[in-house]
Amino acid sequence: MKTIPYGSQWIDDTDINAVCSVLKSDWLTQGPMIERFEKEIAEYVGSRYAVAFNSGTSALHGAMFAAGITSGDEVITSPITFVATPNSAAYQGAHPVFVDIDMGTYCIDPQCIKEVITEKTKVIAPVDMAGYPVDLPVIMEIAADHDVVVIEDAAHALGAMREGTRVGSEADMTMFSFHPVKHITTGEGGIITTNREDFAERLQLFRSHGITKDPRRLIKNDGPWYYEMQELGYNYRITDLQCALGLSQMKKLEHFIARRNVIAKMYNDAFRDRPNIIIPPVPKAAQSRHAYHLYPIRVSGIDRKSVFLDLREQGIFCQVHYIPVHLQPYYQEVFGYREGDYPIAEEYYRAEISLPMFPRMTDDDVTQVITTVQKVIQGNS
Ligand SMILES: Cc1ncc(COP(=O)(O)O)c(C=O)c1O
Repeated sequence: MKTIPYGSQWIDDTDINAVCSVLKSDWLTQGPMIERFEKEIAEYVGSRYAVAFNSGTSALHGAMFAAGITSGDEVITSPITFVATPNSAAYQGAHPVFVDIDMGTYCIDPQCIKEVITEKTKVIAPVDMAGYPVDLPVIMEIAADHDVVVIEDAAHALGAMREGTRVGSEADMTMFSFHPVKHITTGEGGIITTNREDFAERLQLFRSHGITKDPRRLIKNDGPWYYEMQELGYNYRITDLQCALGLSQMKKLEHFIARRNVIAKMYNDAFRDRPNIIIPPVPKAAQSRHAYHLYPIRVSGIDRKSVFLDLREQGIFCQVHYIPVHLQPYYQEVFGYREGDYPIAEEYYRAEISLPMFPRMTDDDVTQVITTVQKVIQGNS
C-alpha cells in the first residue's frame, strides 16, 4: 500500500543545480541571490518592495515591528491559523485578539472585526486560510477608518488571485512562507511584500540586528567600516543558497498552482454530492483563484477521529488544520481565552480533515485518496 502524505515539496535537478552553483560561488549568504529573489517575488505579486526572511514566522515578526507594534497594543486575527500568526504579535508584547471565522470562507469574518476594535488596536492580520483569498477590500476599509495597519498572512496563498489581482499587493504588508509544504520552497523561509518604502526599510533593519550601514541613515559616520545599531533587531537573514532554490522554484510556480487546482477539482467532483462530506469553499468572485495550499474537508454526522485514524491506517496521511489558537494552553494561561469563546472556529475544528494536496501527486494518487475516503466514510456512517 502506497502512503500519501498531506503535503510535500517538489525538487528537481534544476533546483539542485541552482543550489550547487551557489555552493561553488563566493557568497553563501548576503550575496546577489537574495535581492534577485526579492525582486522576482515583488514582480510576481505586483508590489514595490519585498524583504526576505529566514522563515515566515520571522517575516511576520518583522512586519509587526515595522507596523510599530509594542507592549499593550492589540492585534486582531483569526483563531483558525497556525500559532505563528498571533505569536508574532505576542513577541512584540501585544495582545492577540481573535475574531471568529466565517464558515463560508474559513477565514476571519470581516463583519465582526469592528466589534472588537479599540483604541489599542494597531494591526489586523487576516489569514488566507488554506489558500482562499480573504475578503481584503472590506478589511482595508475598516482599517482605514480606524488608522490600523493590515498585515495579510498569505502563508497559504502565493499565487492566489482576488478578483484578477494577485494576493500580495493590496494589504499594507503581506507575508508568504516557503516551508516545504508551501507552494514553493526555500527549505525554511518567508517574505514580506509591501508598497511602502518606510516599511521595507524597517523590515531590512529588523532582520539584521537593527543594524544599518546606509550613510543616509547614520547618526554619525566614523568611516567606511562604520555601522550603527539603531533598533533591537534579530538575525533573521535568509541565505543565498535558499534564495537560489526559491528562484528556481518560482519558474514552476504557475504549473504548481494549476496542478493544485486540478487536484482540487478532482476532489470537488468526487465529494460534492456525497453525504457526510463538506468540500472547502470556492471563491465566488470572477477571476479569483484559490491557491489550495490545503484541501480541508469537514465531515458531518460521523466521528472525525475514527475517520482520521482509518484514513491513516489505510495510508492516507491526512492532517488537521488547525486546533483553534485560543484553545492552546499558553493562550488560555497568558491571555485568558476559554473553550466556547469562538464557537464557529471550534465547530470547524471538530469536523476538519486536510486531505493530501501537493502538485507532485499523480492522478492515480488522487484516485487512491478519493476511493479510500469514500470507503472510510461509508464504513463510519
Ligand atoms: C498561516 C500560517 N502563518 C504563518 C506560518 C509560519 O510560517 P513558517 O513555517 O515559514 O515560519 C505558517 C506555517 O505553516 C502558516 O501556516
